[in-house]
Amino acid sequence: MTRVTTPFTVRTTAAEVLHGVDLTGKRILVTGGGSGLGAAAAKALADAGAEVVATTRAQLDLADLGSVQAFTDAWRGPLDVIVANAGIMALPAPARAANGWELQLATNFLGHFALITGLRADLTNTARIVLVSSGAQAPVDFDDPHFERRPYDPWAAYGQSKTAGVLLAVAIGRRWAGISANAMAPGRIHTALQRHLDDGTMRSMGAMDDDGNLLHPENFKTLEQGAATEVLLAASPLLDGITGRFFDEDNQEGELPAFALDPAAADRLWELGAQAVSGVLAGPSLPERSTPVRQ
Ligand SMILES: NC(=O)c1ccc[n+]([C@@H]2O[C@H](COP(=O)([O-])OP(=O)(O)OC[C@H]3O[C@@H](n4cnc5c(N)ncnc54)[C@H](OP(=O)(O)O)[C@@H]3O)[C@@H](O)[C@H]2O)c1
Repeated sequence: MTRVTTPFTVRTTAAEVLHGVDLTGKRILVTGGGSGLGAAAAKALADAGAEVVATTRAQLDLADLGSVQAFTDAWRGPLDVIVANAGIMALPAPARAANGWELQLATNFLGHFALITGLRADLTNTARIVLVSSGAQAPVDFDDPHFERRPYDPWAAYGQSKTAGVLLAVAIGRRWAGISANAMAPGRIHTALQRHLDDGTMRSMGAMDDDGNLLHPENFKTLEQGAATEVLLAASPLLDGITGRFFDEDNQEGELPAFALDPAAADRLWELGAQAVSGVLAGPSLPERSTPVRQ
């Protein structure tokens, strides 16, 4: 497969990616559209003429399959693009969704799986799906996805959920002819996503000084730069017909460990998601007491 390249760089903004692109008549759904990268992507897509539905947790709680089903049941009309942007990162203590799934896997992967498959009939023949992933990747542990037997690790849980997004792009690419699905990493951008990181971690990233002030190191992007790869995958004609690929923060097709693009793992994950959504697999048993975590 030839690597996909674009004329853009790590500093290109979302508006620059969409310069000259007319999205009039396109309907685009952006999850987590009330803040951060989702809001920046939604604005750039709307500025280019699209009708954008930017969801917030109040209308569509991705950690609650009932909420996702209510949203998909209520959806009316064709849909050209879904940007699966909402996410949570590195929860310091284990937390579960209502169905018992580990909360990052439930929110970042399962909620979007339910949303995308629930809206399948509304997608246009050439619709695009954007899975907002990360440079943080970890294999999906199919034997213990919810950390019931292995020690909970915030980055293993986040990385697993973000790899699951890439695998979902691979799985859709293998299943839905005409519809394209690609995954991407936005780079590092100061947003509410880092709310669970302690000051030591922020300092080790060069993102905070000794007095707790946020810094903007060279390798951090602005929101408009961070949203660039989302809108590239959502709407740029440069990606017409491209599916099942991963794009990096520099707006070029990027490399990932083989486990993140493995078709067999993608198929297995699809089955896991489908079973959970259909209620066949309700999820692991809930612990007697779960630790409340601010989200
Ligand atoms: N910022 C970075 O450096 C970075 C790096 C790599 C990947 N990413 C990815 O980029 C995406 C956007 O993150 P961001 O940086 O823009 O952070 P953000 O500002 O915190 O945005 C995340 C959005 O997801 C929403 N969300 C969280 N849980 C939800 C739920 N259960 N149901 C519905 N919506 C939910 C949040 O809503 P609330 O406001 O209600 O919490 C928020 O609007 C995420 O998928 C993240 O993993 C970001």
